[in-house]
Amino acid sequence: MLIATSKIKKRVDDGVIYQKFYYLCLRVMRGAIFVSIATPSLNNIRRMSMSTVISIKQKSEIFVGRVEDGLKRYAQNRRVVVITDANIDRLYHDIVAKYEHIIIGHGEGIKNLITVQKIYAQLMEIGADRSTLLVGIGGGIVTDITGFVATTFMRGLDFGFVATSLLAQVDASVGGKNGVNILNYKNMVGTFAQPSFVITDVTFLRTLPPRELHAGMGEVVKMAIIGDEELFKFIEENLSTASYTNKDIMQRIVLDSVRLKADIVDRDECEKGVRRVLNLGHTIAHAIEKCTHKLNHGEAVAVGLSKISHVANSMGILAEEDMLRIDNLLMKIGFSLDMPVPLGDVVREIRHDKKKSNNLIRIVLPERIGSCRIEEMPLGDIERNFECLK
Ligand SMILES: NC(=O)c1ccc[n+]([C@@H]2O[C@H](COP(=O)([O-])OP(=O)(O)OC[C@H]3O[C@@H](n4cnc5c(N)ncnc54)[C@H](O)[C@@H]3O)[C@@H](O)[C@H]2O)c1
Ligand SMILES: [Zn+2]
Repeated sequence: MLIATSKIKKRVDDGVIYQKFYYLCLRVMRGAIFVSIATPSLNNIRRMSMSTVISIKQKSEIFVGRVEDGLKRYAQNRRVVVITDANIDRLYHDIVAKYEHIIIGHGEGIKNLITVQKIYAQLMEIGADRSTLLVGIGGGIVTDITGFVATTFMRGLDFGFVATSLLAQVDASVGGKNGVNILNYKNMVGTFAQPSFVITDVTFLRTLPPRELHAGMGEVVKMAIIGDEELFKFIEENLSTASYTNKDIMQRIVLDSVRLKADIVDRDECEKGVRRVLNLGHTIAHAIEKCTHKLNHGEAVAVGLSKISHVANSMGILAEEDMLRIDNLLMKIGFSLDMPVPLGDVVREIRHDKKKSNNLIRIVLPERIGSCRIEEMPLGDIERNFECLK
């Protein structure tokens, strides 16, 4: 049954807000929700000479352009406290030093309530109050922690991000999910709250280590499989090691990914429906991350994307040609697609996944490049459906 389709496109000249309504097709068939996002809906996109601004829910702006211009736009004449990590402070001290700042450590191991409590204590020590603007400058770890601190300290301060890693630019900083890990469980405690602004400047990527660039590309490929075949093709045709320093190529990749994510969040801020498609590849990725720390998040996502494509193919949902294109692109980027831990361990972790309810696990399956569906899979069927991965 087709629930909804709509398509209106209205384009006005540069410099003026133009809104895009795209298609959203939702079909419900035997318990599965089919989600096909041909391209975004209802985005407010403003192009200016040096930057592009995308707004979410009319309360959050994603500014893609020069960091100096972004900070001038959002952080002038305010008391600003910056939260960042030691790498960013070392590489971009000239930006950090302009503001009062708190430096945290790095790595997934510090994304926890101990770090949060230390930041609360420092904010109290310097007399931060409800008029203070918190700005997280860094990768996804800094932005997740800053968002969590900002939404809980004194019941909520205004906050924004300067996203410096590719993963943060295309994914972590966009969408208003803030949180920290508890024990071995990722993002177990958190809030939904949109940052007032996100500043994304692709020139930060010039200092990002190759492994982190690849990690970000894992999420970009995910976005392309979810809803943008053009972007997938663009990466197939244009990506090489040299392109990471090519501003035009990276700007296109970042903008297309952000636009798609912003659009999905705009429709479903609190992940009650369509936003769940963003978990493509993540059920397997999170299970891998629980079993081993050898892979970073983007590397685990790449393995997850490949494996779930194989599962979708074996279930007759995804054509072999598309499955091979996905594997080839991920390998071209430089990912190893081998399961880094025994499959049985991954399946065991999936059974404990926080998204399972009534013995059903919600799983996102690609049906072609640019479209996927969400299915509720009985826990008992996982072994059978994952048989093809042995
Ligand atoms: N909130 C969300 O919706 C969401 C979505 C996806 C991922 N995440 C979270 O994001 C985190 C991963 O983010 P990440 O990959 O950015 O990790 P990260 O924040 O650890 O950054 C990776 C490394 O790169 C360094 N770095 C960042 N920018 C740099 C630059 N421009 N130059 C040189 N070094 C730089 C950092 O110091 C760090 O060592 C995970 O905790 C994940 O759960 C959150
Ligand atoms: Zn992710």
